[in-house]
Amino acid sequence: MKKIIIAIDGPAASGKSTTARLVSRKLNYIYVDTGAMYRAVTFIFLENGIDPEKVTPAEVADLLSKFPVSLKIMDSVQHVFIADRDVSEEIRLPEVTRNVSAVAAIPSVRKEMVKLQQAMGLEKGLVMDGRDIGTIVFPSAELKVFMIADPAARAKRRQLEMEGKGQQVDFDSLLKEIEHRDFLDSNREDSPLKQAEDAITLDTSNLTIDQQVDWIVSRAEGLLVTGNGSQV
Ligand code: DC
Repeated sequence: MKKIIIAIDGPAASGKSTTARLVSRKLNYIYVDTGAMYRAVTFIFLENGIDPEKVTPAEVADLLSKFPVSLKIMDSVQHVFIADRDVSEEIRLPEVTRNVSAVAAIPSVRKEMVKLQQAMGLEKGLVMDGRDIGTIVFPSAELKVFMIADPAARAKRRQLEMEGKGQQVDFDSLLKEIEHRDFLDSNREDSPLKQAEDAITLDTSNLTIDQQVDWIVSRAEGLLVTGNGSQV
């Protein structure tokens, strides 16, 4: 049966994770949220008092061998582990969000995460979302989507999502944080957030989640029917 890799990139809170997860369910593919991996590394840095500005590649290697990051699917939901500790909740804390762009900019961190991500794609049948999936992790992914939405729409969505979890957040500070993170992620030297030349833009500002999912699934099915998805 043909299987493809679907790479979904885009700025913070553009709806990538929700969309990618639902697409993976419709296609019966594995879903990987790579942002969660960088969040887990950030959590390790915070717990161990490591300064991302000063850490050396040798210290990163040592840290990641002591505290290996892995993903496990449990009841169809991705869980993030540091060694055998499930940190899926902790990695969403505001302190992690505030620090993740600095940690994700460290080349030795990226190298390790990209290696893990590429290993997950060996058998295809994968939907992966992040910032560099179509450019660096899987440059030959069969379907690349670059999801965008205006910052205010993204902040509003994130606010509703957090309120749904019982957390009150101020819209303006959320908007500022999202814009700041986009700036850092797009301007770092190693693998900045940018659209792959062959990625299709999906502007989700005025789309429902169902519309976004259908848009991607119909393109994926189109590739599978025309045989552009590779045979495994
Ligand atoms: O998708 P997210 O907001 O959970 O991602 C958290 C951070 O991780 C984001 O600000 C940038 C970084 N990231 C990255 O650099 N490369 C990826 N492939 C995914 C996320």
